[in-house]
Amino acid sequence: MNIVIITGASGGIGGQFALQLDGTLPAADGFWLIGRNREKLEALAGKLRHPSRRIALDLAGKDASGQLGALLESEKPAVRMLINCAGFGRTGSFEKTLLSDQTGQVDVNCRALVGITAVCLPYMRRGSRIIQLASSAGFLPQPGFAVYAATKAFVLSFSRALAQELYKKGIYVTAVCPGPVKTGFLETAGAAGNMLPIKKYTMVSASRVAAKALADSRRKRSVSVCGLPILAFWLLTKVCPHGLLILAVGAMKERKSVP
Ligand SMILES: NC(=O)c1ccc[n+]([C@@H]2O[C@H](COP(=O)([O-])OP(=O)(O)OC[C@H]3O[C@@H](n4cnc5c(N)ncnc54)[C@H](OP(=O)(O)O)[C@@H]3O)[C@@H](O)[C@H]2O)c1
Repeated sequence: MNIVIITGASGGIGGQFALQLDGTLPAADGFWLIGRNREKLEALAGKLRHPSRRIALDLAGKDASGQLGALLESEKPAVRMLINCAGFGRTGSFEKTLLSDQTGQVDVNCRALVGITAVCLPYMRRGSRIIQLASSAGFLPQPGFAVYAATKAFVLSFSRALAQELYKKGIYVTAVCPGPVKTGFLETAGAAGNMLPIKKYTMVSASRVAAKALADSRRKRSVSVCGLPILAFWLLTKVCPHGLLILAVGAMKERKSVP
């Protein structure tokens, strides 16, 4: 059995990955869709031509990757593709944000992503691919989104190093770094009604991000950036001192009273 595993499949970008891959997978293949919201997973499964197993799993739980590992051990599928898409963010000053939200972002965005990658790798072979959802927030420290940006810098760094380690084995890793995307993410983050105008103008659809990521993964690229403004931002963070950029972003946020 050849499978594609998608965490965050109940969300905007994860759902798009499933829908777009559904048209290209061979008939023998299927999906393992992971998320907490079973209703959303069932709704997505209903739209797919390929069979899918819906796995309701809270990735903030310490044993989440262990539970997936046990399932893999009993079924022994070939994991053709792993898409680690689950993640969330919370805007606001570090001092005023709930501790459980701060540590929860680290648990879901980093710890679970590493654990799931580790338990899936033994079931991957030459030609398998891994897509990790980082973010353009990982390019630069972000006051007011400090922990989230740090978790995504972790995902980007980890994924680029892993890409190099696994390249010789013919397993290709792509870190996806979108700017703002139209999904439920912004509402969860508490950012939906209060964004910098520049973020509104650079916002793209989840389908565009997924399509670009899949194309970059096929091309064996280690980083996927969607859209010229985000590419320009990435280049800026490579050539400009981060201290200056952090001050500039902080000043823009203060003028607009954005957390
Ligand atoms: N939207 C953006 O602006 C944007 C920009 C850059 C990067 N990203 C990244 O893209 C990824 C997908 O985000 P999205 O835009 O599709 O947001 P979304 O629509 O809010 O989806 C988030 C997904 O993560 C899952 N998730 C969150 N916490 C979880 C937990 N504790 N256990 C299991 N699953 C959990 C959610 O599942 P349940 O709801 O079922 O729990 C959902 O499927 C995230 O990693 C995000 O950081 C998003």
